[in-house]
Amino acid sequence: MKKKIRCSILIIVLCVVTLKSNGQVTPPMGWNSWNKFRFNVSENLIKETADAMKKQKLIDCGYRYIVIDDGWQSKSLGKDSLLLADEKKFPNGIESLVDYVNALGFELGIYSSPNKLTCGGYPGSLGLERIHAKQFSDWGVKFVKYDYCPARNKEKSNSGELILKRLKAMHNALSDIDSSIVYAICEKGWVSGQIPNARSYRKQIKITPQNRKELFHWAPELGTMWRTTNDINPTWGKIMQILDSQEGLATLSGPDSFNDPDMLEVGNGKLTLSENRSHFSLWCILTAPLMLGSDVRNIPDEILEIITNKELIDINQDKLCKQAEKIYDENGIEIFLKPLLNKEMAVCILNRADFAQDLMLKWEDLGVDEEEMILVRDLWLHKNIKKEGKYISTKIDAHDVMVLRISKN
Ligand code: GAL
Repeated sequence: MKKKIRCSILIIVLCVVTLKSNGQVTPPMGWNSWNKFRFNVSENLIKETADAMKKQKLIDCGYRYIVIDDGWQSKSLGKDSLLLADEKKFPNGIESLVDYVNALGFELGIYSSPNKLTCGGYPGSLGLERIHAKQFSDWGVKFVKYDYCPARNKEKSNSGELILKRLKAMHNALSDIDSSIVYAICEKGWVSGQIPNARSYRKQIKITPQNRKELFHWAPELGTMWRTTNDINPTWGKIMQILDSQEGLATLSGPDSFNDPDMLEVGNGKLTLSENRSHFSLWCILTAPLMLGSDVRNIPDEILEIITNKELIDINQDKLCKQAEKIYDENGIEIFLKPLLNKEMAVCILNRADFAQDLMLKWEDLGVDEEEMILVRDLWLHKNIKKEGKYISTKIDAHDVMVLRISKN
């Protein structure tokens, strides 16, 4: 009997390992066209983006996937229901673009939907999952964003079961055809009928940090990453709203499984330097995929400095893959703690207030055991901090952060 149980456990473990063996253990990093360019994607844009990411050494920081979002397709399907790239935007097709980005060391990503039409009204992959997965794989695509679009398809009353069946169909097709492809699910809560941040779609149940996890409990088994909110935009209010809606999701995060609070807006809109720094820091400690969303062909130096902060990226890419949780919340100051390998940890102190604040925080409030000898490093100032006494005192500007890496000496 015992033998039988052990055998079944082994089979389950093997299944999980083989189901998701794309080798993407830590959060995917790269660039996605949507936030800045919407449907204005083209071969030139992608090539210039790849060139710029190489030149600015973004590739050396780990930014690897270049993802073309919605709008790359032609308005109708081709022979045998194959997807066609828009000939005007991509005159040489997707395969040659894959070769181009591969030669520079990047992987290409692409977008489709588990519906008849994508959110932008282009042909989707519903019922054609195997054909399209094979096509992506033949082209050499290594990242598929799969975006559920009920409104565009007038399908708002679909059951969770049906949506899940559609998401699984692409999961199965990709796993069978090329398990090295990152599967990025974008359904924002529709499976459970609860859309975080979109009041109009909410059912009766109030989403709280205690029950929020139930919205996405099915996701780690299927996707490398899954969107946990509706769309981001480059405003402080939206970024804070998304941050709040990540509370309660931490235990879903682990190697090869990531909550996705949406692509980065760092460098977009009118975000201040402090806000850009906070946005990037928060996504890093949330163990979120780091998908840049600005025009990387023209990055101001101070923005480049933010997105290439290797000490912060190391926190994001820590192999433990734990997502930070909030451990303190008073007077506009919030503290998040992300456990790291080797009993290290990252602490992010966020000042949400519209004014600078002088702080005297107990090390204890940061989750630090004072008795232990510890090394504290400020990841924005890139220097070690002397730990004297029970308190850490600092000043944090409005909407800014302090991020510390804390380790035993
Ligand atoms: C939305 C999605 C965006 C973008 C857009 C394209 O549903 O959340 O990230 O992919 O569709 O139409």
